[in-house]
Amino acid sequence: MSRAMVEVEELRKEFPRRGKSRQDPPVVAVAGVSFEIPQGEIFGLLGPNGAGKTTTIKMISTLLKPTSGSVRVAGKDAIRYPIQALRHLGTVLSGERSIYWKLTGRENLEYFAALYGLPARVARQRINALLDRFALTKRADENVERYSTGMRQRICLAKALLAEPDVLMLDEPTAGLDPQSARNLRDLIREVKSEGRTVLLTTHYMEEADQLCDRVAIFDHGQIIALNSPGALKHDLDDLNVLEADIARWDDAWGAALQERGAVNYDLRFDETARVHRLTVHLNGHLTTGEAVTELVNLGADIRQFSLKSPSLEDVFIRLTGKSLRE
Ligand SMILES: Nc1ncnc2c1ncn2[C@@H]1O[C@H](COP(=O)(O)OP(=O)(O)OP(=O)(O)O)[C@@H](O)[C@H]1O
Ligand SMILES: [Mg+2]
Repeated sequence: MSRAMVEVEELRKEFPRRGKSRQDPPVVAVAGVSFEIPQGEIFGLLGPNGAGKTTTIKMISTLLKPTSGSVRVAGKDAIRYPIQALRHLGTVLSGERSIYWKLTGRENLEYFAALYGLPARVARQRINALLDRFALTKRADENVERYSTGMRQRICLAKALLAEPDVLMLDEPTAGLDPQSARNLRDLIREVKSEGRTVLLTTHYMEEADQLCDRVAIFDHGQIIALNSPGALKHDLDDLNVLEADIARWDDAWGAALQERGAVNYDLRFDETARVHRLTVHLNGHLTTGEAVTELVNLGADIRQFSLKSPSLEDVFIRLTGKSLRE
C-alpha cells in the first residue's frame, strides 16, 4: 500500500447564516467527511450543486479554515502548518482569477516562478516545457484575456504544476469546456497521474468521474454517501435493471403506479432539445422491464423510444438518494 498523500478526518465546515438572527443554526457545508488518497491516485468528489465539494477542496488547500477536523498533506498538518503543506500542493479553483489577465501566459508563469523562488534557469526550462506540453507555446506571448476558456484552464494547470507539487487539486476542471477540450484536459490530468502525482478533483459530471477517477467519493448534503472505485460502485447495483424511456407527456400518477407494481424508484427529467421527458426506472426483478413498458403503455404513455442500460454512476446516486444528480 503506497503512502497516503492526502488524509482528511472528520472535516467539518459551518458558515454563519448571513443577515439573519444569531440564533439561526449555521449552514453546515461539510458535515464531517473522512478519506485518504494514496500516492498516484486520481480521486474524485462527485455530487450535486451545494453538496460541499468546493468547500472541502478549499479547506484542504488551506484557503478556508475548517470548523473542526484534520487535514494532512504529504504527512504535514495543513491546519497547523499551512506553509509546509502548501509546498506539496498545486491548486486550480474554478472561476478563480488566479492568473493575471493583463499579462501574457509566459509572464504569468514567470511571475509565479519568481514567487515560488525558483532559480531563473530552472524557471525558464520549466516554463518552456509546460508551455510546450500544454500546447501554449504559439500563444505564450499574448495576454491571457485573449485566451479561450480551454487555454485559460491549461495556463492555470501549468501554473499549478510549476513548483512540481506532489498533489494537484482541481475544482470542476472541465466546467464550461466543449467536449473536445474537456477530453483533452482529462488526458492531461492522466499524464499528471502518470508522473506519480496524486490528483484530487471535483466534478458533477458522472461520466467524467467514471472515466477519469480511480476512486470516487459521492457527496450529498455535506456528507460522503458512498466511496469506492467507479466499477465497484456500479457492481453493487448488479441486481438492478435500468430502463430508460422517452415519453411525450408525463403524469406523476404513472410513476406512483410503477412503484406500486414493484419498481425500486424512478427519475424524470425533461430533454429540452428532443422535447421529451426522459424516464429512468430502476427495476430489481419484482417488475420486469417488459412489464414496466406494458404498464406504462396501458396507463396511456406515448413512449417514443426505450432502451435497457447498464447501471451508471448516476444510477448509483439515484439509488442512494432517490434523486438525480442534475437537480
Ligand atoms: N462563504 C460561504 N458562506 C455561506 N455559505 C457558503 C459559503 N460557501 C459555501 N456555502 C454554502 O455551503 C454549501 C456547500 O457549498 P459548496 O460550494 O462547497 O458546494 P459544491 O459541492 O462545490 O457545489 P457546486 O457543484 O455548485 O460547485 C452550500 O449550501 C453553499 O451555499
Ligand atoms: Mg463547487
